[in-house]
Amino acid sequence: MSKGTRYVTTPIYYVNDRPHIGHVYTTTLCDVYARAMRLLGHETFFLTGTDEHGLKVEQSASERGITPQELADENAAAFRHAMELFGLTHDDFIRTTDESHERQVGAFVKRLVDQGDVYLGTFEGWYDAGQEEYHTETSAAACDYTSPVNGQPLTRASEQNYYFRLSAYQERLESLFANQSDFVLPEARRNEVLGRLREGLQDVPVSRTNFTWGIPMPDDEAHVIYVWIDALFNYVTALGLGDGDGQRHADRSHYWPATFHVIGKEILWFHAVIWPAVLMALDLPMPRGIVAHSFWISEGKKMSKSLGNFIDLETIEEYVGRYGMDAWRYYLVTQGPLGATDANFASSKFHEIYTAHLVNTVGNSASRVLAMVGKYFDGIMPTEAPGGSPLAIGEHDWPARCAAATEHWQTSMERFAIDAAIGAGLSLIRDVDAFINETEPYKIAKDDDRRDELGAILYQCAETLRIASVLLSSVIPKGAVALWDAMGLEDAGTFSERVAWGGLPPGTAVTKVAPYPRIELKPA
Ligand code: ME8
Ligand code: MG
Repeated sequence: MSKGTRYVTTPIYYVNDRPHIGHVYTTTLCDVYARAMRLLGHETFFLTGTDEHGLKVEQSASERGITPQELADENAAAFRHAMELFGLTHDDFIRTTDESHERQVGAFVKRLVDQGDVYLGTFEGWYDAGQEEYHTETSAAACDYTSPVNGQPLTRASEQNYYFRLSAYQERLESLFANQSDFVLPEARRNEVLGRLREGLQDVPVSRTNFTWGIPMPDDEAHVIYVWIDALFNYVTALGLGDGDGQRHADRSHYWPATFHVIGKEILWFHAVIWPAVLMALDLPMPRGIVAHSFWISEGKKMSKSLGNFIDLETIEEYVGRYGMDAWRYYLVTQGPLGATDANFASSKFHEIYTAHLVNTVGNSASRVLAMVGKYFDGIMPTEAPGGSPLAIGEHDWPARCAAATEHWQTSMERFAIDAAIGAGLSLIRDVDAFINETEPYKIAKDDDRRDELGAILYQCAETLRIASVLLSSVIPKGAVALWDAMGLEDAGTFSERVAWGGLPPGTAVTKVAPYPRIELKPA
């Protein structure tokens, strides 16, 4: 089994917003991936955090009569709290106001200036003062040189900014996309980026002068580093890559390059084009991939505060309180917008998935099988090999079936196909259910001459369920632990040991288990 490091990141979230389902979703996806990678024995680093600089934070703070730092502290704490509440296992929580981040960003930008990748340039265009926005000649002409928002005339204005020479990286970016065909996932998103890339790249501003809440431009305090540049650097400053001799650098630098940057589709251009070009300029290796998921909408509509369909922290806590943490994670990860289309969050769907998958499939199989061991074998796990070698029941080769599911699970997880990986685990459980319906052990139990056969069937069921629970443990950790407890097993061992057939020793005393209670649908 290939060992190595895995480094997975979420976007760092803006502190001018409160945490909601979108933030919890991306972080949960990364959490499932990180748990799976740790289970596989990879040395794993999982990073999340908050993006705290910029004009909007400055403005929101001033409206509330507090300092930007106070606002940032307040909302960073809310994000940190949300992550703890939902048992997310990130290894660090970075804030762009961390002194170490600010210092490293300054050093990186200085390097870019010194080597000529960042230059001071003048931008001229048609300025809409009300919107603080520039129009190109074409778009200004299209609105008759007046603001499309307030109708005031646009003025000819110019602005001095520092620019990053993005245009110089056109060819190298094109070869990156050609050579690494899964650099952006899913493929539909990759094609969008490629299309826009082929239109040609222009240099992008990396500094602003219209606010002060940010990291100053090295050697030019009149400019503040643009928030996006500041923010993207979090992925390397958290590892201390800009701090040659720092402690973080010593401990963490080997995690670079990132395995996956996981983001929402709206910030793909920054991650798939601008960030790689900055890394190229700094001679840093490319991440293995960018996963750009789609959006949650809610009860059929875009989430909005005024429609009252916003899934905020309080709403999430209600779901977790009612259905449990596993149910929340399972719904998010299996029904969410990981692919190219948006996903609808609906309470009826949540209930349906919980009942069909966790109550009727995962929970029911486990409680059924262990209850039969209780009833027919006094709770002592029988053997499948009463005469020394395993009894084959029909055409079933359970060890091979489990090994194939495990293989599918692993290759899917490694390429961030989390839904496919979970499907591999769940399909084992469905097969156990079908096996029980086919062999009818409750009928065999009536025949004293068929004890060996009965024992083998129940052993094969229990052992398959155990292996399935290992595969599902990164998404439903509580249910998995409950099953292992009932089987007298520890949450320990290497991955190969844990998925090897025979890990549940015959003769083990097992108890009943009922991880997922049936819940009444709440009246609307
Ligand atoms: O963009 N469905 O931060 P942000 C799914 N600070 N995911 C959603 C979502 C939804 N409806 N809404 C938000 C920023 N997200 C920058 C990032 S990174 C260097 C800087 C998730 O607070 C999704 O991951 O607006 C999206 O990309 C992210 O939250 C945006 O968070
Ligand atoms: Mg946003």
